[in-house]
Amino acid sequence: MNRALRESFHREYLTFFEQAERTRRWNPFTDVPWDELADSAPDEQLAQCAETFCGVEMFLPDYLKAHLDTVDRNYGQAWFAANWGYEESKHSLVLREYLHRSGQRTEQQLFDYEETVLSRSWTRPYEDGRQMVVYGAIQELTTFVIYRKQRRLATERGARVLGEVYRLIGRDEMAHSRFYQRLLSLHLDADRDGTLRDLAHVLRTFRMPAEDVLPDYDARIAVMRTAGVDAGVFLREVVLPMLGALGLSRHDLPGPPERAAVDTVLRQRSATA
Ligand SMILES: [Fe+2]
Ligand SMILES: [Fe+2]
Repeated sequence: MNRALRESFHREYLTFFEQAERTRRWNPFTDVPWDELADSAPDEQLAQCAETFCGVEMFLPDYLKAHLDTVDRNYGQAWFAANWGYEESKHSLVLREYLHRSGQRTEQQLFDYEETVLSRSWTRPYEDGRQMVVYGAIQELTTFVIYRKQRRLATERGARVLGEVYRLIGRDEMAHSRFYQRLLSLHLDADRDGTLRDLAHVLRTFRMPAEDVLPDYDARIAVMRTAGVDAGVFLREVVLPMLGALGLSRHDLPGPPERAAVDTVLRQRSATA
């Protein structure tokens, strides 16, 4: 990566971090209205979803390693990885606290779950640093959309505390996605054709980490689908808004073979929604 791009990344990181320090810091012990848990009834479906997301967030050591391996000694991205890791570390922690404090999982059950989850590992899906930036932008936005749906579901079912937990986490995920989108814009300015090729490639091959790492993923996904997380959402609420934020449409993706392949995947995803 050339020096001009590294400097732009550094400036982007400063903007991201300054905003995070000013507007987005939260404390999992004091910013969640835990005392209101006394008023809400147990809800096994919501608990299973919370446990699933807690599990996905637990792969933090693998995600961090992937971050650091790809960014090398690039200041903006390496410092982002450090800050990102701090923010992500609170996500599994606060979901774990919710499951325990709401009485829906015992400490022992949570330790057992932790052991099962962490006995597996996640490896990064792309070797190339720019493709990992594309992956980050898609993955973080998808995660945001999932948490937003969970938040609505929790609130509708009277689980106000869980709704607040999802609000706090979701806000972080959106900020992460926007940071990656900013890096992608800079990549597009520096090498439009190459970046568009990477974008098309990752869109065609993208998989959420949960698909590869979680135990009994199929059973868990069945529970989560009832919360409106499906493949059609990926197209409408992730791919199209992300391309829009980058000032692109799918017609900008390199074609015809690449674009046709992406269109096929998007059609299949909508069809299986
Ligand atoms: Fe997260
Ligand atoms: Fe995130």
